[in-house]
Amino acid sequence: MPQPEPTHCPPGLAVPAARIDFQPEDRRWIADRIEEILATGQLTLGPWGAEFENEFAHLCGVEHAVAVNSGTAALEIALRAVGVAGRRVLVPANTFFATAAAVVHAGATPVFMDTDPATFGTAPEEIERRLDADTAAVIVVHIGGYVSPRMPEIQALLERRGVALVEDAAHAHGSSYDGTAAGAFGAVGAFSFYPTKVMTSGEGGMLVTNDADIAAEARIHRDQGKASFTQNAHTRMGYNWRMSEPNAIIGIRHLQRLADMIAARRRIAAIYDAGLLGLPGITTAIPAAAGPVCNYYKYLVRIDAGVDRRELKQTLKQRYGVSLSGEVYDTPLHLQPVFERYHQHPLQQAEQICARHVCLPVFASMSDAQAEHVVSAFTDVLNG
Ligand SMILES: Cc1ncc(COP(=O)(O)O)c(C=O)c1O
Repeated sequence: MPQPEPTHCPPGLAVPAARIDFQPEDRRWIADRIEEILATGQLTLGPWGAEFENEFAHLCGVEHAVAVNSGTAALEIALRAVGVAGRRVLVPANTFFATAAAVVHAGATPVFMDTDPATFGTAPEEIERRLDADTAAVIVVHIGGYVSPRMPEIQALLERRGVALVEDAAHAHGSSYDGTAAGAFGAVGAFSFYPTKVMTSGEGGMLVTNDADIAAEARIHRDQGKASFTQNAHTRMGYNWRMSEPNAIIGIRHLQRLADMIAARRRIAAIYDAGLLGLPGITTAIPAAAGPVCNYYKYLVRIDAGVDRRELKQTLKQRYGVSLSGEVYDTPLHLQPVFERYHQHPLQQAEQICARHVCLPVFASMSDAQAEHVVSAFTDVLNG
C-alpha cells in the first residue's frame, strides 16, 4: 500500500536511513577494471586482492592484511588463527549476531560481557570480571565506529593476563584512538565491507595483524585450508572464504574515497552535536573527547525511559520523512533465542542500552540541509 507523503518535509529534504555512494566516475573506474579482469579470466586471488590488502594494511598501520569474502569470515578466521577451540571467548552482549556466532563456529564457548554505558563497548573492569584461566581470547567491538579511550587499558590488561585481544572492527574503518587505528590494538582485527558499512566491496571482509604467523594461518584458512595456492595439500579445516577480484576492485575504489567519506560523515555529526544539545528526552552518545577519531558509522543518541522508540521512529518517518537507521543493537545477544544457553549472568546495562538508543541517519552524500532537517524534526517531536 502506498504511504502518504510526509506532511512536514520540505521538497528534497527526505532522509533515507542510509545510502551507498558510488559517484559516476567511480562506477566507470570499477567497470573498466572489471572488464579487464573478465578478459584475463583471473577472477579470484589475483593482483587486485593483493593491492586491496596492501592498501588496507597501510590504512591500519599494520604489517599484514588478508582479504576474505565477509566480516563474519574475517572473525572466524581470526579466532581460528589465534586458537580458541574448546575454550572460552569473551564477547560483548551488545554486538551483531556474527561476532558470537564466529566464536561458536570456531569451536569455542562465548561468554557475554555487559556494556560500558560511556562507549557502548566494554569496560576493562567487565573484562577482568569475566576472565578466567580457560579464556583464550576477548573480542572488543567498536560500536558505531567509536574506539573506546580505554583501549590502552584493555590492551595492557590482556597482555598481562596472556589472553589474545581480537577486535571486531566491522564498524570502524578509518577510526582510531590516539594515533592507533581500529584493528591495530589487538593480535588481530576483523573488518566487514557489507554494503551499508562506511566503505564497501559489495560483500567482503579483511583481517589485519602485525603477526606474520596469524597472517599465514589466515591465508591457509581462507582457501580451503590449503597449505599453498598451487599445492593440493589441505592442512587445516578451512573453507571457501576467498574474496573475488571484482569485490577487491570495488573495495579499492571505496578505500580511495574513505577519507572524504569520513570527513563528510563527521561534518554531519557536528551538525547533530550542535543541534541536539539540550533537547529534552535525549543525549548524544558519542562524546567529542580528544583522542578518539570516530568515522560515525552510526550517530548514536540515547533516549530517556519516557520516550517510546517505536513511536519516535514512526513519527519522524511519517511526518518528517526522516528514516532512522537500525540500532546497534536493539536486542543484546544473550536474549537472542539461539544464544539463550550462553546466558550465564545478568547483563543489565546491555539490556538498557539496547532498549534506549536510536541511530540518526549518516551517509557521505547527505547534505547539511538534510542534517538540519533531521535536527528540526527531532526538536519538534521531542518538544511535543
Ligand atoms: C559488529 C559486526 N560484526 C560482524 C559483522 C559481520 O560482517 P559481514 O556482514 O560482512 O559478514 C557485522 C556486519 O554486518 C557487524 O556489524
